[in-house]
Amino acid sequence: MSRPSQFAVFGHPIAHSLSPQIHQAFAQQFGIALDYRTIDAAPADFAEAVRRFFDEEEGRGANVTLPHKAAAFALASERTQAALRVGTANVLTRLADGRVAAHNTDGAGMVRDLTDRHSIDLRGHDALMLGAGGAARGVAWSLLDAGVATLTIVNRSPDPADALADAIGEPARVHTRYWEDLGNIGSYDLIVNATSAGTLGQSLTLPFSLAASRALCYDLGYGKSAFGFLAWAQAAGARYAYDGLGMLVETAADAFELWHGKRPDTEPVYQSLRARSA
Ligand code: ATR
Repeated sequence: MSRPSQFAVFGHPIAHSLSPQIHQAFAQQFGIALDYRTIDAAPADFAEAVRRFFDEEEGRGANVTLPHKAAAFALASERTQAALRVGTANVLTRLADGRVAAHNTDGAGMVRDLTDRHSIDLRGHDALMLGAGGAARGVAWSLLDAGVATLTIVNRSPDPADALADAIGEPARVHTRYWEDLGNIGSYDLIVNATSAGTLGQSLTLPFSLAASRALCYDLGYGKSAFGFLAWAQAAGARYAYDGLGMLVETAADAFELWHGKRPDTEPVYQSLRARSA
């Protein structure tokens, strides 16, 4: 019997990643046998670990998470348009000639979670993005593609917010404000927490005035890291408060389709992870 195809997720730390079980659940839908493992690589070892995986271990594809997304983009020899504009990659694919291609499915995954799973039409929304790091970059363009009317980026330190707005280059739709001014910049229909505060165990102090009465609040993280922001959203009277578990499953589905040419049904996988996290 031939060896199953090899897949992996690279991160540091990575032991608690849900990606192996998501990909195995997708694979079962099609009767595909695959090996999908976690590979913990320190930043200094990442490039060599990727090379080994693809060149010596017959790796076909890999997911990449913190802190390696920029390095994954840098080491690839082909890059999709979505990866190029964001400047990072969350998926690597081995091409037939052995070279590695970089993709970024984060933004598309988030938008599909909102539009398909939660039936939200983002067109015309005034969106506020908290944070301007890698996670924020990953979704900013996709929110604009999905039709938000304006995107206001607010970062604790102003320079990354300005740099992201400059990179997007749509001054009529994309604005920056100072974190210190959050109390007097009005209210928003969509508030995205793209800071790593929750992951770092830090709490954000946000004014309730940010949430418009029909506001949708979305944390790009899930589990414990999203608790603080979602509790704030509920206390602020937001209409919807979602974590990023659905985004994780959707981005995994995009990777699965890139590797296997088949579109998995994400809903049962999402529901089973949600039930387990409850
Ligand atoms: P990630 O890839 O998770 O986005 P990152 O690129 O290091 O990680 O970016 C972290 C983001 O969270 C930044 O926008 C950071 O703000 P600074 O640029 O000012 O550091 C933001 N962040 C982290 N902790 C924060 C906190 N306690 N309050 C507000 N913003 C925070």
